[in-house]
Amino acid sequence: MASDSGAGFFLVLEGGEGGGKSTQADLVVQWLRQQGRTVLQTRQPGGTPVGSRLREILLDPATGALDPRTESLVYAADKAEHVATVIAPALARGEVVVCDRYVDSTLAYQGAGRAIDATELARVAAWATGDLRPHLTVVLDVDPEVGLVRAGRAGDGHDRIEAEPLEFHRRVRRHFLDLAAKRPDEYLVVDADREPGSVHADIRAALESRLLTEVRP
Ligand SMILES: Nc1ncnc2c1ncn2[C@@H]1O[C@H](COP(=O)(O)OP(=O)(O)OP(=O)(O)O)[C@@H](O)[C@H]1O
Ligand SMILES: [Mg+2]
Repeated sequence: MASDSGAGFFLVLEGGEGGGKSTQADLVVQWLRQQGRTVLQTRQPGGTPVGSRLREILLDPATGALDPRTESLVYAADKAEHVATVIAPALARGEVVVCDRYVDSTLAYQGAGRAIDATELARVAAWATGDLRPHLTVVLDVDPEVGLVRAGRAGDGHDRIEAEPLEFHRRVRRHFLDLAAKRPDEYLVVDADREPGSVHADIRAALESRLLTEVRP
């Protein structure tokens, strides 16, 4: 189960580029609000003022190559600030937090680069977040060839991550699926190569039972 997170519910959307995280986050937030929930919608990197600046550094192609440890620590700094000042307080207030990417993205992307030992990466991320784990992580699973085309169409040009070779994105996908397989109770893997409405319906179904049991009315 998730670590102590007050009375709230922590939902994370994960997956490779163009899987539909932003699209599904909007849909699920809209639905949760219709259910009368108080929802905080946020994302990583970038969910705080300092995080927005870190996000620019991390995604701007002009940043160029970063030493893998540096990159890990910048991601970790974003997470530490975000959990401490945004996510944990919202959960303590009993809200539903919907976050676009979280620790698993760091593990999958940096792990796929194979530059840093996976256990060390996980330790740094756990330290940064005070070991706060989501109640549910939805992995929007899509072939990277499909996802990258979608993300490219969405339009803000190729960022530092999207510019990685296809093989890198295949390893990222595999990482997400492996993480999900290790803790099936905390994950929902959704085939994201379908209509957004069908994907949303699966997410809603998974949330309906969990929210009834885990969130204070
Ligand atoms: N199920 C879907 N089928 C087809 N197109 C989709 C689907 N979901 C989202 N899209 C479209 O694909 C593009 C990328 O979607 P979205 O931005 O939601 O993905 P993302 O996972 O947030 O991407 P990124 O990793 O770039 O943040 C958008 O143009 C969106 O409208
Ligand atoms: Mg997005």
